[in-house]
Amino acid sequence: MKYYDKLIFEISEENRIGYNLEKKNLPKVVLPNEIKRTEKAELPEVSEFDVVRHYTNVSQKNFGVETGFYPLGSCTMKYNPKINDELATLSGFANIHPLQPVETVQGLLKIYHDTQKMLSEISGLTAYSLNPFAGAHGELAGLMIIKAYHQKNNDPKRNKIIVPDSAHGTNPASATVCGFDVVEIKSNPDGTVNLEALKAVLTDEIAGLMLTNPNTAGVFEKDILEVSRLVHEAGGLLYYDGANLNALLGKAKPGDMGFDITHINLHKTFSTPHGGGGPGSGPVGVCEKLTSFLPNPIVKEKEGIYYFENSNDSIGALGQFYGNASVYIRAYVYMMTLGRENMSDIGPLAVLNANYIKDSLKDLFVLPIDRPCMHEFVFDGLIDSSTGIKTLDLAKRLLDYGFHAPTIYFPLIFSQSMMIEPTEVESKETLDEFINVMRIVAKEAIDDPEMVKSAPHNTIVRRLDEVKAARNPIVKFRDIK
Ligand SMILES: Cc1ncc(COP(=O)(O)O)c(C=O)c1O
Repeated sequence: MKYYDKLIFEISEENRIGYNLEKKNLPKVVLPNEIKRTEKAELPEVSEFDVVRHYTNVSQKNFGVETGFYPLGSCTMKYNPKINDELATLSGFANIHPLQPVETVQGLLKIYHDTQKMLSEISGLTAYSLNPFAGAHGELAGLMIIKAYHQKNNDPKRNKIIVPDSAHGTNPASATVCGFDVVEIKSNPDGTVNLEALKAVLTDEIAGLMLTNPNTAGVFEKDILEVSRLVHEAGGLLYYDGANLNALLGKAKPGDMGFDITHINLHKTFSTPHGGGGPGSGPVGVCEKLTSFLPNPIVKEKEGIYYFENSNDSIGALGQFYGNASVYIRAYVYMMTLGRENMSDIGPLAVLNANYIKDSLKDLFVLPIDRPCMHEFVFDGLIDSSTGIKTLDLAKRLLDYGFHAPTIYFPLIFSQSMMIEPTEVESKETLDEFINVMRIVAKEAIDDPEMVKSAPHNTIVRRLDEVKAARNPIVKFRDIK
């Protein structure tokens, strides 16, 4: 192990100092005894230079959208423009204290207010709360709204949520966490809703249906109006998992399709950074009849003054203070930079890029749904599978060529799923290079399968024992032998 590969605590030396704070320039503060530390803080004792080297080294071991092509299906790994960061970190925003009086944070509240409004306009829903911290958190908020709505209507027996078997795993998980029973329905072979299967489960116990459109196989739900009619007729509500909104951006609105509730992943569609667990944001939006159930607080405006408003019917607050403020600012800047006219190019370009890759490789990879896709599509392994190369091997080998792997083994409806989502931001040259490497890897799979099976060979971490990692995870650096 190289010296700077060690963790920052391991290179710590007693009494080494990174920064010398001149005590004489500090204001005198007397701390009450009960909040004073009784033991020395366990902090690494390192020089500033050690810290810089350590983090620079760590950053070079990572792979991100800023190091290379990242076609991770369902994750919309698009470029995060630097102007978003620049404006989100302006001191007027970055130094706001959560307990500051609202009259002193009017600028930030205007951003919240206008972001809520723009999301409403984009999705065709009446109102938004920015509260939830992730897509899955937005799902939970939406399901809590569904529950509160039926309870308010004295219809608490509605305790079942329908989820197609092609859904993202967070959908059934959120429904279960919210106390609903999940009713799974089998999809059509292309992952779209099977209307007969839907009709068969529509009883007076159905609270709602969760759906993403385009679905997880990148196919537009052509029967969405019929789906929404059926669910509404049975007394249920329609939840839109907005993680795939990028495909429709500026062209179609979930509200127009009949959805009553949606979450939107700002950290995907609206170009704020994600990965490694956050920070994320999953604002939840609703149609007119559900506005009073939104999580508190909502930012409102009256005569040019912005303020927080709480509703009595609200499902409550799902985040503290101002939430992930920097994420909302980034998303706001992104929307304002693009404007209405440019935003409507996003969906079509994302769709074009996905179709270009799909059509350029379908002579080598199994294409279970062979028709125009939306912003992403799924291959189901190699056409020539004679050497036993699996999707996992192909994905690992791509890393050797400097590409992040696509999403693999999802959606679950195909056994060798490889889900590719290039997004609208990639140039034709990058797409061509990826196509070229996919063709090389497909050839290697036939010519030298053992090499592909043991890939990656050029990355900092080689192939892991995934079963062992899942069963015996080592989560403390002190336990690493
Ligand atoms: C279709 C779909 N729904 C929901 C989610 C959950 O979003 P988040 O990761 O922000 O919780 C994802 C995330 O990948 C997704 O792809």
